[in-house]
Amino acid sequence: MNDLHEIASLLVAHGKGLLAADESVHSADKRLTANGIEPSEEMRRKYRDLFLSTPGIEKYLSGIILFEETLLQKADNGTLFPQLLTQHNILPIIKVDQGVEPLPESPDETITSGLIGLPERLAKYRECGARSTKWRAVIRIDGDRFPTSQAIAENAKRLASYAYMVQEAGMVPILEPEVLLEGNHSRLRAQAVIEETLRAVYTAVDDQSVDRKALILKTSMALSGSESGKTDTPQEVAESTMKALLATVPRDVPGIVFLSGGQAADQATDNLRAITQLAHTEKAPWPLTFSYARALQGEALALWKGSEDNVSSARAAFLSRLQKVSDAASI
Ligand code: G3H
Repeated sequence: MNDLHEIASLLVAHGKGLLAADESVHSADKRLTANGIEPSEEMRRKYRDLFLSTPGIEKYLSGIILFEETLLQKADNGTLFPQLLTQHNILPIIKVDQGVEPLPESPDETITSGLIGLPERLAKYRECGARSTKWRAVIRIDGDRFPTSQAIAENAKRLASYAYMVQEAGMVPILEPEVLLEGNHSRLRAQAVIEETLRAVYTAVDDQSVDRKALILKTSMALSGSESGKTDTPQEVAESTMKALLATVPRDVPGIVFLSGGQAADQATDNLRAITQLAHTEKAPWPLTFSYARALQGEALALWKGSEDNVSSARAAFLSRLQKVSDAASI
C-alpha cells in the first residue's frame, strides 16, 4: 500500500466521516446572513472556529474540507487551522475548484473551473498541510432536458484531469459530481442521472490513468427532487442509491462519502443509516460514510447567532449531530 492508498483508507475509517467546512466566501456569507449574522472575514473565521475548535470532534471526523481562506486563518488559540486539525489527527482537505461557470453549449448548465494553474496551487496547499483535496461538479436535472450529455461528459473529463494532477502532487483527490436535489424530478430519475454521471466519471478516470485506489468518490443520494412534493422513505433512498452505486462504481475504489445536498439533518442521518445497512446486507465492496456541510452545521449555526454566549450550546448541538451521523455510518 502506498501513502495515497493509506490516506484514502484513513479518510473513510470505520465510524468516522468528513465535515465539509468549505463553503466559498459567498456561500459562507449567505449562511451567516440567513442566520442574522453580519458577514465579514473575522465572522467567517469565528464561524470556522466554532466547528473546528470543538473539543472531541476527532472521535467522529477523519478529515475536514477547508476553503482556501481558512488555510491561512488561525483558531482562537492562535494555531493555524490546518495545524490545529493535524494536532487532533484530523486530515486537512482543501477544496481546489474555483466554482462553476455556464457550459458554452448549454448555458443553463455549468462546468467547474480551476484546472488552469492547478499544479502550482496544489504545491502551495500541500505545504500548508493539506493531504487531500476536493473538486465539485454540479449536475442539474430538469425533466428530460437536463442534464445534457455534454454537461456530464465535460464535467467528468475535468474531474478526471483534476484527480490526475492531485495524485501527481502527492495528495488524495475527492471527486464530487453533485447531482442536485433541486427540481421536481422523481427518485428514479435521480438514480438514472447518478448512474449516467458516475459511469462517465469512471470512464474518464480510466482514460486519464488515474489510480482508482487513491481517490474518494463524493456522491449525492438518489432522492426525489426537493420541488417534487414527494418525500422518500429511507428504505427507498437506500435501494435507489445502492442500485446506482453497485451498477457503476468499481470495486477497488477505497471509499464513498455522501453529501447532504439540502436534506434536513435528521433526514440525512436516517437516509445514511438505511444506506449503510443495505450496503452491509448486500456486501458492498466499499466503506460508506458522510461528508456533510449543511446537515452537520445547520443546527449549531442557528443556535450560535454569532455570539460568544452561545458557543457552548452550539458546539453541544454540533457534537450531538456528529455522534448521530457517525452512528448511522457505523453499521
Ligand atoms: O459542496 C458541497 C459540500 O461538499 C456538501 O455540502 O452537505 O450541504 O450538500 P452539503
